[in-house]
Amino acid sequence: MKLLSKSKIQKLIRTAKRVGLHAYAPYSGFKVGAAVLTSDGHTYGGCNVENVSYGATCCAERTALYKAVSEGKKKFLAIAVVANDKKRPIPCGICRQVLWELAGDLEVVLIRGSDYEVFPLSQIYPQPFQKQKSL
Ligand code: THU
Repeated sequence: MKLLSKSKIQKLIRTAKRVGLHAYAPYSGFKVGAAVLTSDGHTYGGCNVENVSYGATCCAERTALYKAVSEGKKKFLAIAVVANDKKRPIPCGICRQVLWELAGDLEVVLIRGSDYEVFPLSQIYPQPFQKQKSL
């Protein structure tokens, strides 16, 4: 996997932090920001958007990815994720599955304060459910 440059990672981190401020999280108070980087160099940010019908909530990672897909993007290099928490965030299982399907084995940048760690998606989601012939 091609490693991202530090400047690209820093740009993604800035976007994730900026859009995380717009998180709509009145039920959990857990505000998350994410930013995806497409292979043609565009960045799309997204925040979590909750609902009183809790299952209708959309995580920040999916908001960002769905925005990019909606603009016709099909190839992704990385996603950065930040939360208003002391601990490092980690995408939930649903987001890992959605990322795998739409973005493949991209790099996942997990931000904590001014630090970050980078993992290939395949490391944090090692045995994804794959598309079956019948689907
Ligand atoms: N959430 C995200 O946006 N991304 C994650 O990786 C984990 C969870 C959101 C969903 C919900 O709005 C809140 O965080 C608490 O679960």
